[in-house]
Amino acid sequence: MFTDLMEEDGQAVQANQFLVVDHGVGAVIDPGGNLAYNELYLALSRWFAPRELSYVLASHADPDIIASLDRWMSSTNAKLVISRIWERFVPHFTKAGKTEDRVIGVPDTGGRLALGRSELWLVPAHFLHSEGNFHFYDPVSRILFTGDLGVSMMNGEQARTPVKDLKPHIPKMEGFHRRYMVSNKILRLWVQMARRLDVRMLVPQHGAPITGSKAIADFYDWVESLSCGIDLFDDRNYQLPTATIDARPARGNPLLRVA
Ligand SMILES: [Fe+2]
Ligand SMILES: [Fe+2]
Repeated sequence: MFTDLMEEDGQAVQANQFLVVDHGVGAVIDPGGNLAYNELYLALSRWFAPRELSYVLASHADPDIIASLDRWMSSTNAKLVISRIWERFVPHFTKAGKTEDRVIGVPDTGGRLALGRSELWLVPAHFLHSEGNFHFYDPVSRILFTGDLGVSMMNGEQARTPVKDLKPHIPKMEGFHRRYMVSNKILRLWVQMARRLDVRMLVPQHGAPITGSKAIADFYDWVESLSCGIDLFDDRNYQLPTATIDARPARGNPLLRVA
């Protein structure tokens, strides 16, 4: 896990990138945008030759997940693994022809991808928050990579320390989940499925991992009862606008302004 590869200049949200290697076969998970590319390529090289990567796994198609696709398609022979519903959109991130025969479009039901002598499970996580979204479960480390679910707003250094006590951590997650997650129904369906997995650690794309059976159980309970997204929207959110937009460049972390 790489937590602090991007400069903390307040322009871009902190993001984690991941390398998984099994018996000499490597995959990167959610490598990020162009801000992270150079640093990630270098940092990765300490553990694995980036040119030898077999897969780039993208939980969904957001800029902080896969905007660097052109660079990865150029510097490696890796195939991109992404939801089928984004398959024909991601070529917009690259120069013409770069993704030809190199995109593995995953159906909504997900699946198990062979990696070395083991496999990575592509677990359905649609609408959390993206319409076509997968979490990645590693049965060896028993880590569930949860993309934008379970994220917390903090800097890269803080993101290195796993959370063992959920309660004081909730304020760092709440605003984001209420606005970015689509609905409580989806959270409940996801929890129902996740509880059947043997998970040692939940690892999100932003902020700190959540570890230990107590904190993980508390996280499931928390999201299961959370109202979010369309649960909170009604006709008041769809009024023709009257306020003038402040055209001065915004300062600070925009995700912290979402509440
Ligand atoms: Fe996202
Ligand atoms: Fe994200």
